[in-house]
Amino acid sequence: MSDLGALIPRNREIHPDPYDPGYKTSVTRSPNLPLLSMESTPSEETGPRFGHGLIGPLDNNLILNFTRGESPAVGERILVHGRVLDENARPVPNTLVEIWQANAGGRYRHKKDNYLAPLDPNFGGCGRTLTDERGTYQFLTIRPGAYPWPNRGNDWRPMHIHFSIFGHSFGQRLISQMYFEGDPLIARCPIVKTIKDHGQIDRLVAPLDMSAARPLDFLAYKFDIVLRGRRQTMFENKLEGM
Ligand SMILES: [Fe+2]
Repeated sequence: MSDLGALIPRNREIHPDPYDPGYKTSVTRSPNLPLLSMESTPSEETGPRFGHGLIGPLDNNLILNFTRGESPAVGERILVHGRVLDENARPVPNTLVEIWQANAGGRYRHKKDNYLAPLDPNFGGCGRTLTDERGTYQFLTIRPGAYPWPNRGNDWRPMHIHFSIFGHSFGQRLISQMYFEGDPLIARCPIVKTIKDHGQIDRLVAPLDMSAARPLDFLAYKFDIVLRGRRQTMFENKLEGM
């Protein structure tokens, strides 16, 4: 299967406006001039490949990977799993998925995070994996805590996990966040509110998935991810002419 070729242009209608005064730092981070659209070139249509030799056996287990299996992290044990697809609904196999998150108390292992919640000596907060041939991935982790952040007085981030997905080219790279079904802080979050379409917000909220939960062990949440696709003619989900 070819995974090279021109990329489908982004639909700016469904992306949040980079400038949103409710999210204070977006004011200085957002561009001052209108964006220009350009045709993609090989520098966007290609990207790095990651071999299975890169990934260690505990890399997708955040409960154990910080202590190399010695001692589990504190928190509610969860499985996060899903598929990485492109805009043509084709699986994106063998692509690097990385996550990072706060611990169960809402604190990151980062020198600039000085929130009151303590660090967990058994939790690092980072993981990575490769999708399989069907584009599926999974992580075992703990549910991250909500945390306050300096924005407008008393703003809190909902429970969330940060995701980075490489795709097969730099133009497919996606960095986003996953939220948890039922969290009342989602609707109050100034960062979430930069997305004006509720349907698009829903796509960032992972539903509880009891079919993948393990009794007496962990709950599960399902999070499917769609990357940019290629401008190729599809016929019954196969490239035409192949
Ligand atoms: Fe965060």
